Amino acid sequence: MSLFNRLIVSSLPAIPKPIVGWVASRYIAGAHLENAIQVTRNLNAQGILTTIDLLGEDVTNRSQAISAREGCKEVLNAIARERMGANLSLKLTELGLKIDKGFCEDNLRQVLDLAREKKNFVRIDMEDHTCTDATIEIYRSTRKDFENVGVAIQAYLRRSESDVSELVKQKANIRLCKGIYVEPESIAFKTKDEIRENFLKLLRMMLEGGCYVGIATHDDFLIAGARRLTSELRIDRDRFEFQTLLGVKPSMRQMLLRDGFRVRVYVPFGREWYPYCVRRLKENPEIASHVLKSILTRDNVK
Ligand code: FDA
Repeated sequence: MSLFNRLIVSSLPAIPKPIVGWVASRYIAGAHLENAIQVTRNLNAQGILTTIDLLGEDVTNRSQAISAREGCKEVLNAIARERMGANLSLKLTELGLKIDKGFCEDNLRQVLDLAREKKNFVRIDMEDHTCTDATIEIYRSTRKDFENVGVAIQAYLRRSESDVSELVKQKANIRLCKGIYVEPESIAFKTKDEIRENFLKLLRMMLEGGCYVGIATHDDFLIAGARRLTSELRIDRDRFEFQTLLGVKPSMRQMLLRDGFRVRVYVPFGREWYPYCVRRLKENPEIASHVLKSILTRDNVK
């Protein structure tokens, strides 16, 4: 970790909330669903799809999980009402995974029922390694009954190759990302090259296995590699999409769009933005230098 990043992380508790809010505001649509709707409308007008995420994770009591479940339903209702090009992303610990797995799956099934009724789709984000087994199990169980559910896979995890070889059997809809949590070396690749190599290996497995893939990265090397691979394998452009985070490299998504690719932006919103941002910064202090770099290079519109 560089000195700059270490400095940012160690001084986080002392940084006034409005300043963290200012940094966060480029990554978060706002505190309310209306903010996510507005951001989605703007992106849709440019031909870009979104996936809306109601912020929240690691809930510790059932009423919080139930209110998150109802919040997810509100998002789906709003997308249908506003006829937007958007789907829903959620975290299982937001729906009570750490309280009771069955309760969490039941909450997810209720959200999936509504999504199906509204002809929409729900993506399960992948959290830290303590959640991987349960997340994949719940995904595979719900996938048997729902076509409209997808999961995320992290290229930094050593186990992902074996997870993907099982998931392709179900023709899973997968978002492939590097992974954001700080994980021990025993279970995760640590170097940039290893993670990139595994990313492209997993992408090939998914595409060859007939999966729909959300290629979620801002890494130029991986975007170029994914473009080469999809063209080498002659994969139709409706079998994959590129996904980026709100506020990160907007010029990249414009370039992909111009080149005729489907692009989707992850749009988080909600009152839980402060813990979310602080946790993300602690988990991945590199973000601090990304923020600085993007401000300096002026690639800084949402
Ligand atoms: P990398 O971190 O190397 O970034 C490439 C370049 O992008 C950087 O050099 C910088 O220029 C820019 N950049 C990256 N992050 C930036 C930032 N925050 N601010 C400014 N510039 C930035 N992870 C996870 O564990 N579970 C999940 O479910 C998801 N879901 C998810 C959805 C979507 C749509 C995306 C794009 C990402 C995720 N992630 C995730 C996060 C992912 O695992 C990863 O941590 C980040 O995308 C950063 O990795 P990159 O592949 O972008 O490469």
